[in-house]
Amino acid sequence: MQDFFQEAEVRGQTDCLLAHEFCHPEGLYFTGHSLGLMPRKAPDYVQEELEAWKKLAVEGHFKESRPWYSYHENFCKPMSHIVGAQEEEVVVMNSLTVNLHLLMVSFYRPNSKRFKILIEKNAFPSDLYAVKSQARFHGFDPEEAVIELEPDQGEFLISQEQILSSIETHKDSLALILLGNCNYLSGQSFPVSTIVDKAKEWGILVGLDLAHGAGNLYLELHNWNVDFAAWCSYKYLNSGPGNLSGVFIHKKHLGEPLPRFEGWWGTDKKSRFQMKPQFEDMLTAESWQLSNPPILDLAAMRASMEIFEKTSMRQLRDRGDQLTAFLEKGLRVFLKEHIDLITPSNPSERGSMLSLRLKKGNPREFYQQLQKKKVFIDFREPDILRLTPSPLYTSYQEVAQLVQAFKECLQ
Ligand SMILES: Cc1ncc(COP(=O)(O)O)c(C=O)c1O
Repeated sequence: MQDFFQEAEVRGQTDCLLAHEFCHPEGLYFTGHSLGLMPRKAPDYVQEELEAWKKLAVEGHFKESRPWYSYHENFCKPMSHIVGAQEEEVVVMNSLTVNLHLLMVSFYRPNSKRFKILIEKNAFPSDLYAVKSQARFHGFDPEEAVIELEPDQGEFLISQEQILSSIETHKDSLALILLGNCNYLSGQSFPVSTIVDKAKEWGILVGLDLAHGAGNLYLELHNWNVDFAAWCSYKYLNSGPGNLSGVFIHKKHLGEPLPRFEGWWGTDKKSRFQMKPQFEDMLTAESWQLSNPPILDLAAMRASMEIFEKTSMRQLRDRGDQLTAFLEKGLRVFLKEHIDLITPSNPSERGSMLSLRLKKGNPREFYQQLQKKKVFIDFREPDILRLTPSPLYTSYQEVAQLVQAFKECLQ
């Protein structure tokens, strides 16, 4: 144990991270996969807009600095860097599940031959509800239309071969693949470009739920030819509870005559206030917007995006890989008789989060014991514990302290 702490000390000395940009609650925080920490500047930026509202009222829409009318435009560029997209392919709007539905309006266009959706069986339940209700909405029986990809017997993870062979099996009837990357429960990330290439052989569209991917994985959505994606901003993107969702629509679809639910914030902004009855497409992802966005929420997101602009996803993922490997090493060396790791060990198949099960004992009680010590990890029914060292704000010393806390509670 001593060596492990010494290694944490040594690594800590040359380590660079952006921990000082965040407010840290008391204790050890390993739940950035659920709710990211608050950027220090968030309250100032929210206050700035409250002041503008107080002093300028409606004039705030067109104030000199950061007018509310175009406030959302400030997020397309930093978000496009985070997910590997072009600026016009990205917009911030609504919440994640709402956006998945809006995107499926455009990209799930089933017909009597091609109507199935492939998804992981252990996808986040909201995604399962969304795809099943979409199938029902189009008059299909979800039992038949939704293919839930299950791990092989006795396994927890889904192999690349399983995904590819399922595409092959259903190649004539699949309309859409919707994958969570990473998977919220196992932390497994998928080989997106290989899956997309296979899907494209048969004209199948691919969408991603990046709730656990954006700000965590290195992504190249544009180059990988992903059709669409959506993600929330309150986990790895540290924008605050329930804050808005990001959306990606590949450039090749911009301007296509797709079905789409439309609203006034999607019509051409140059003529929006002419209040024309006719919708005018902007030929960017912005045209998927329905309503004017909540500025106070976006103000908090501004603080987070500024931090991401100080680094790059390559840099973050490199530090994340090292930090997660350090945590994995601590768990494997000191606690191997107590825990089974679920998340793949290969860094190219995961992000920062590790999921595990206890070999014996009650995981809920273990989690509660840690909570009492102000050690924050989380528990997902029936028996999964999830922990994330965040490359933005977790130190090697904190990882070592977490391993020590695990040891104390498990022995
Ligand atoms: C993987 C995943 N998908 C979807 C959601 C739903 O997000 P929202 O409530 O913002 O729609 C979550 C929420 O945690 C999630 O983790």
